[in-house]
Amino acid sequence: MRLLFVHDDREYLLAPGEEFGTDLGVIEVPEDVAPGDTVETHLGTEFVAREPRGPDLFDHFERTGAPMMPRDIGLVVGHTGASRGDRVLDAGTGTGVLAAYLGRVGCAVTTYERDPDFADVARENMALAGVEPTVEVRTGDLTDDLDSLVADDDGFDLLTLDTEDAPAAVRRAPDLLVSGGFVAVYSPFVEGTRAAHEAAREAGLGEVETFETIQRRMDFGERGSRPSTAGVGHTGYLTFARN
Ligand SMILES: C[S@@+](CC[C@H](N)C(=O)[O-])C[C@H]1O[C@@H](n2cnc3c(N)ncnc32)[C@H](O)[C@@H]1O
Repeated sequence: MRLLFVHDDREYLLAPGEEFGTDLGVIEVPEDVAPGDTVETHLGTEFVAREPRGPDLFDHFERTGAPMMPRDIGLVVGHTGASRGDRVLDAGTGTGVLAAYLGRVGCAVTTYERDPDFADVARENMALAGVEPTVEVRTGDLTDDLDSLVADDDGFDLLTLDTEDAPAAVRRAPDLLVSGGFVAVYSPFVEGTRAAHEAAREAGLGEVETFETIQRRMDFGERGSRPSTAGVGHTGYLTFARN
């Protein structure tokens, strides 16, 4: 597995045995490197090896479909109680940040990506995250497989959707989910989130709730303290419902 090599604000994701040139010298990664080890460049600068965690994966994954931000993923986990052993059906995979976080939490994730090139990148990202055994990336359109998933599966604990056509899957949520299972829909636009909310109600799901996610970084400066005037503002809306 690749590890992060960190010195101040510099960090590089490198594999055992890899040689990598930086302006602070060449890092030669030992084959037996372990998290917590210190590796010196040939110029004597020390880099500390770390196992990459969720936020590192968000920064270092190769990007395709716009990834969900850690703050939105935190809300999905918090509102649904996603935890070890849960079976999750996810679409679309995109970059795979949500799928990888859920895999690291201990969920068994089946995730659909309709773009074959994106799906290949997502598989590489899952390998980077060390979650390939528990996150299965399927190439295909989720809506094409809904009938077979309902017929063949015992039921998922959680359905996570980050696609424009999410309402089509939400309508099948009562058949896809175990009793008490959750659906979580992430939508960047209010029109999409309203459609998902209405689909959940029409499907007869309970506890239907939609939230706008707002998070403000705080700046503590010489002149005073206030929410940052820079950075990401709106990300999206989250709709939750329960079978
Ligand atoms: C916004 S990205 C998802 C990002 C992902 N949640 C993450 O955290 O990295 C949306 C992805 O869904 C895929 N997609 C859209 N509709 C789909 C469908 N019906 N079935 C499978 N994939 C779909 C798109 O190709 C795109 O890659």
